[in-house]
Amino acid sequence: MKWKNFWSKWSNFQDKQLEAEQAIDKYDYVLYGGAAGGGKSYFIRHYPIKFLIEHCFHKLGLRGVRVGIFCENYPALHDRHINRIPYEFPSFLGEYKAQQHEFVLNEAHGGGVIAFRNLDDPSKYMSSEFALIAVDEITKNDKETFDFLRMRKRWPGVSKTKFIAGTNPGGIGHNWVRKLWIDNIFDDNEKEKDQFYFLQAKASDNKYLDENYFRTLDSLDEKLRKAYRDGNWDIFSGQYFSEWDKSKHVVPGFPIPEGWKKFRAYDHGFRAPACCLWGALDYDGQLWIYRELYQSGWNVEQLAKEIIRLSGDEQYDYSVADPSIFSNTGMIDKRGGSTIAESFANNGVIFIPASNRRIDGWNLVHQYLYWDEKTFPRLFFFKNCFNSTQTIPTLIHDENKKEDLDSKGVDHAADATRYMIMSLHETRTPSPVNDVQRKLAIMKAEQEFASNPLYQNLYD
Ligand SMILES: Nc1ncnc2c1ncn2[C@@H]1O[C@H](COP(=O)(O)OP(=O)(O)OP(=O)(O)O)[C@@H](O)[C@H]1O
Ligand SMILES: [Mg+2]
Repeated sequence: MKWKNFWSKWSNFQDKQLEAEQAIDKYDYVLYGGAAGGGKSYFIRHYPIKFLIEHCFHKLGLRGVRVGIFCENYPALHDRHINRIPYEFPSFLGEYKAQQHEFVLNEAHGGGVIAFRNLDDPSKYMSSEFALIAVDEITKNDKETFDFLRMRKRWPGVSKTKFIAGTNPGGIGHNWVRKLWIDNIFDDNEKEKDQFYFLQAKASDNKYLDENYFRTLDSLDEKLRKAYRDGNWDIFSGQYFSEWDKSKHVVPGFPIPEGWKKFRAYDHGFRAPACCLWGALDYDGQLWIYRELYQSGWNVEQLAKEIIRLSGDEQYDYSVADPSIFSNTGMIDKRGGSTIAESFANNGVIFIPASNRRIDGWNLVHQYLYWDEKTFPRLFFFKNCFNSTQTIPTLIHDENKKEDLDSKGVDHAADATRYMIMSLHETRTPSPVNDVQRKLAIMKAEQEFASNPLYQNLYD
């Protein structure tokens, strides 16, 4: 009983953490989620020791079993867990191997391993096996990460392998996490429905938090207070493009067939990235985003040059851009443009203004992304459009205007996509509508005139 004494003293689990332990005995997928500071990360870090020593080694007689503690990226892993190990894990239990990012239990305790891993690219764990997988802040990840990780949850001799997760509400994964663990809405093919268990964490669960911390939580505005103090899951609505599914919307890429119409769409940025997308429309009305330029810190001349270089000798029906670049900014570039759009035109890239009716635009993007068993999406991204495919799924709803997305997110690629899709529906043959646009059209005609060999010959 020495071990049991040690464990209860060392783990020092509080009531809610003891409840979490019992939940894991009964269920294979336990979410410990809710308020900030309830003791979730502490639990995720300590529980694997019990699992390895008591369950795998003492009970099942297995040595060298591996469990994984995962966070969305390495800095988070380090801040939340690795930096605590030297202070919390006694050396007679085992040793932290910094190079491998693993805590290895001494042979006397079964030689089990806690591997600390990040989820930058979950596919790198393709052939790994873990008897227990613990993900901290699981709502920072997409559903595909979960689907992938649960396949890695297996160990010879351990029939009840476990998946545990801790998290606050909110974040890109809020919707799918809530659906599975809180609302218990599953895909038809889910075979482990009865194994999902949600344990509500409250900040008040944790007696080690001091009064100041509660005063801080109490000072938050009502919404955040409800989420972070009380762990209320109704506050955040999470991922904006909940239809996004990498396996449906991201494709390897192929040469664009000759007859497809091509377009460019541009969202301007200098400090924030500028994003230009190239799209092609097939004969079924499906839009394929086949190239992107995503760049911060470049001026218009540099951007235009690169857009022209990437465009090669392709022909476009038109190129649309963020309408704000057509308003007079007072900026005069060295070739005389007074708006960003004119500067682009002076540098050889002619844009027409996109519609900025945001909600209509987003509705169209939703419609293009939509898919179900019988319907294919109508919007695809080639996988070389790395920034688009990385950022679009991370966008979340605007808390003050639910139907819009939160423009504090990284929305440049999403904006450019919206401009392109809106233009397909609004302005199939866009015509100039104001002075600036008229001027641009004249410049375009002049440029075409100047570069067309037919007309050049006239003056030979
Ligand atoms: N059983 C415990 N014994 C001693 N200290 C604990 C215990 N549980 C939690 N703590 C301490 O309380 C603080 C908050 O715990 P922890 O970071 O695990 O909470 P959390 O729920 O993960 O918070 P967040 O939502 O901010 O991620 C930490 O300093 C942690 O070390
Ligand atoms: Mg935590």
